[in-house]
Amino acid sequence: MTILGQSIPKTHLPSPSDSSSGGLGKDLLTLETVPRHHVLRLLQIARELKAAPRPGRASQWLSGLTLGLIFEKPSTRTRVSFEAGMNQLGGQALFLSSENIQLSRGESLADTALVLSRYLDGLVVRTFEQSTLEAWARHATIPVINGLTDLSHPCQALADLLTVLEHKGSLKGLKLAYLGDGNNIANSLIEAGAKVGMHVAIGCPPNYAPDPTIIESSRKEAAQTGATIDITSDPVEAARNADVLYTDVWTSMGQEEEQAQRLTALAPYQLNESLMAVAKPDAMVLHCLPAHRGEEITASVLDGPQSAVLDQAENRLHVQKAILTEWLGRPWS
Ligand code: CP
Ligand code: NVA
Repeated sequence: MTILGQSIPKTHLPSPSDSSSGGLGKDLLTLETVPRHHVLRLLQIARELKAAPRPGRASQWLSGLTLGLIFEKPSTRTRVSFEAGMNQLGGQALFLSSENIQLSRGESLADTALVLSRYLDGLVVRTFEQSTLEAWARHATIPVINGLTDLSHPCQALADLLTVLEHKGSLKGLKLAYLGDGNNIANSLIEAGAKVGMHVAIGCPPNYAPDPTIIESSRKEAAQTGATIDITSDPVEAARNADVLYTDVWTSMGQEEEQAQRLTALAPYQLNESLMAVAKPDAMVLHCLPAHRGEEITASVLDGPQSAVLDQAENRLHVQKAILTEWLGRPWS
């Protein structure tokens, strides 16, 4: 398999000739730990699955397998795209709201993870702390996939890479500008850009910068791929000559009490026509959704001709089907 000029190994085994060699690992907790060649392989599989006829051979690929989804926060895209993706691959998905299982009455995370591992073949977890996600992964004997934490959202960033690749035809050397809160989405975009050689410029207030540990580790990866990671408090500098303009909500789930101060602090970073004017004329607009028109992005930009947010949302489905085939142990193709 070849993508972006690189040969992609079929199995989970490390390629001895690849400087980013390494296996997939049991879990998908962050993009940082996914070797570069696997990031490219996931994008390739996602494209194949997107193009695959339905019904076709993919429709029984995960037959007999069951995925659990444990969500401590609301979700539209992540929940539905994982459930639909599992169904489209012949498996089943069980949504387990944390409020409706014994976890809510004090059963320990460890016991829950161990018991669910006896029934299920994989778990998607949406939670607050990254350390809670890590605890699920530590105790579960089945693969655990990050469905969003306060720190990161790797499935989203992989879908974003796929969307840019489809629209621009490449990733390496492009400039993605992210405007606004340096949150979970920004962190995962930094990791994603570093993996594929895409320049990432974050325009954010100094108090709302992305995670410093992620910036540091991604800069090391970026040095290998030719990417750059720039953090600036000047939104115009971030957006200048960008190929991709990206933003996300100013108040993430769990931060509702900070909403008033966030609205003030982040107002200069709104993605609007003025920022569009300094980007490349054909710059594409991304937003992971849900969006707040009139806050982080204007309606005219979000709903305008350069917006690819619906393709982006759709690509969650395709990329996560690729993730499921890889992590649930039935590699595609
Ligand atoms: N982008 C995203 O993860 O959306 P949901 O919160 O609806 O899952
Ligand atoms: N940063 C947002 C992303 C939602 C998909 C949040 O965490 O609420």
